[in-house]
Amino acid sequence: MKILVTGGAGFIGSHTVVELQNAGHEPVILDNLYNASSKVVGRIEAITGRSVPFYQADIRDEDALREVFRKEAPEAVIHFAGLKAVGESVRKPWEYYENNIGGTLHLLKIMKENGCRNIIFSSSATVYGDPAFVPITEECPKGTCTNPYGWTKWMQEQILTDLHTADPEWNVILLRYFNPIGAHESGTMGENPNGIPNNLMPYITQVAIGRLEKLHVFGNDYDTPDGTGVRDYIHVVDLARGHVKALKKLAPGSGVNIYNLGTGQGYSVLDIVKNFEAATGLNIPYVIDPRRAGDIATCYCDASKAERELGWKAEYGIRRMCEDSWRWQKNNPNGYDG
Ligand code: NAD
Ligand code: WQD
Repeated sequence: MKILVTGGAGFIGSHTVVELQNAGHEPVILDNLYNASSKVVGRIEAITGRSVPFYQADIRDEDALREVFRKEAPEAVIHFAGLKAVGESVRKPWEYYENNIGGTLHLLKIMKENGCRNIIFSSSATVYGDPAFVPITEECPKGTCTNPYGWTKWMQEQILTDLHTADPEWNVILLRYFNPIGAHESGTMGENPNGIPNNLMPYITQVAIGRLEKLHVFGNDYDTPDGTGVRDYIHVVDLARGHVKALKKLAPGSGVNIYNLGTGQGYSVLDIVKNFEAATGLNIPYVIDPRRAGDIATCYCDASKAERELGWKAEYGIRRMCEDSWRWQKNNPNGYDG
């Protein structure tokens, strides 16, 4: 199937393009390179041995979108493009609403114009807010988000759902990711954060490589086994494969379907530090700092719906996630810049 992958040069998008090609699909990347490097395209092609069309374009640019639809005529869109830094979204809410929600509205308009009504959307566990219960099932009510980034995901889900209500020809899959980490096993593709990482794993790998001095653990007084925050970390390649499986569900009349993509297993911050140290033989110095505003204690999912309905289940454990994250960082100390 020909699939337009918006944000396909980014962390999750690039790994998904590889898995789409491996499964015999024809992905087309559209990315404005705001948070990605054009070098990703060559890395993808080196892994799969197949070329991939790449358009440097913005989803807010309707003419550019029209041109890509005219040339490629995709049957479905996997929509990753968006801004994703939680803290930045608090400082720049307008930019987040304009890019994430505005961009999605332009994309949906051009899809409709071209008779393409199949979309898989990158949503997030963040829509559950402080979850009503754990493990979180898809029936868990959406919560109150603590930042504009989270609200953009919340609202984009609503927009896609309303679109289907108005026109049942839309087939929509909302994938709620938990905490993606890891990297491609080749060590040639991975997460490439700008500046000081906000997320735990890239922070740890940058301490390991010597770019940062020590990890700051945000709070050890949560109601969790060791007091530090518990999350459901998922290998990015498992996550990517979840999209390939989800494509099969995008059949006419399939409606709006929601899936959690996680492992179902929670690990604390200190569990991750210990597993990373065991996987790499390195020491990760850390200090305990105050809690980070907006953080919750525990977040992990019940991923059984995706297994039942998509035949998808995460395969890689935490040790492998740590090994692959480290291989990518070690081989590319400055990300795609060398
Ligand atoms: P990423 O920043 O690596 O990828 C997003 C890509 O979108 C980047 O390559 C960026 O250049 C591109 N982009 C941004 N705005 C664009 C625009 N207007 N037009 C065209 N391209 C644009 O992030 P990621 O971690 O790969 O995340 C992919 C998606 O998954 C995002 O929507 C993100 O919100 C969502 N998500 C990520 C996580 C996570 O922890 N990484 C968790 C849940 C959901
Ligand atoms: C994990 C744990 C921190 C950094 C975020 C977004 C969420 C989703 C995934 C997109 C927490 C602790 C972290 C550090 C630390 N993204 N931590 N020191 O906050 O679960 O989720 O990314 O949708 O929306 O909110 O991920 O990796 O930032 O934090 O102690 O330097 O690690 O407090 O307990 P989070 P994270």
